[in-house]
Amino acid sequence: MALYFIGLGLDSEKDITLKGLQIVQNCDHVFLEGYTSKLNCTIKDLEKLYGKEVKVLNRKDTEENAEKIILQKAKKNNVAFLVIGDIFSATTHLDLWVRAKKMKIKTKLVHNASILTGVSVTGLQVYNFGKTTSIPFPQKNWEPETPYKVLEMNQENGLHTLLLLDIDPANNKFMSISDAIKVLLKIESKKNKKVFNKDSMCLGCARIGSDSPVIKYGKAKKIMTQNFGKPPYCLIVPGKLHFFEEEVLHFWELVEK
Ligand SMILES: C[S@@+](CC[C@H](N)C(=O)[O-])C[C@H]1O[C@@H](n2cnc3c(N)ncnc32)[C@H](O)[C@@H]1O
Repeated sequence: MALYFIGLGLDSEKDITLKGLQIVQNCDHVFLEGYTSKLNCTIKDLEKLYGKEVKVLNRKDTEENAEKIILQKAKKNNVAFLVIGDIFSATTHLDLWVRAKKMKIKTKLVHNASILTGVSVTGLQVYNFGKTTSIPFPQKNWEPETPYKVLEMNQENGLHTLLLLDIDPANNKFMSISDAIKVLLKIESKKNKKVFNKDSMCLGCARIGSDSPVIKYGKAKKIMTQNFGKPPYCLIVPGKLHFFEEEVLHFWELVEK
């Protein structure tokens, strides 16, 4: 009896590791957290490959109701908890593992690729990234400045910044790269610290790790006008560039007309 945390990788049902697949096929219950990221396949595709029913959990199920829905079951059964990307690259899942440990439930971890390392396809070295930050959907009376502050701090240290964009998969809502840039420009207009403007060079990325990734590099005002196709999306603002990073970035550069 155990709770297995299994990373699914970045693209489709086929990105699960062989180790992960063998475990899932032997589990009594299979849960997928469906609120922190998005795969490019359907739940049915997963079920077909695993030969198991996959129950999708929302944030409340995974956080507040975890004991009843996941942990109690894992005391008497083999339970798989599937995470898109890598298992602990969203803070909430480490908490579930700690809770399982405290309840003396046996756990096993199966890692996979994450967006946190997938961004290396841009040519920017993962070692040269600073703190990662997220841009939440703007809400009335709540427009946090954290992403701007993190960008400022990383820039002071010459480091690249990965900005993850808010998603609400249950409602098929994904923040676009254009809206993310608008959020940063709005904060800049209030703070006026010259951290980010329409001429700032940045990378818009969609579906990294899939067969149809889109990566575009250029001035913010140009990136905002681009069509990136389907989500998930992220935005990267490079810091100080090594000459080799600069060379690779040219592959993605938008030609100014
Ligand atoms: C909170 S992170 C979850 C990280 C996930 N557990 C992982 O390891 O990749 C989710 C955010 O990362 C970004 N993201 C995830 N996968 C992506 C991909 N394949 N391409 C571009 N951005 C992606 C999106 O901004 C998305 O909202």
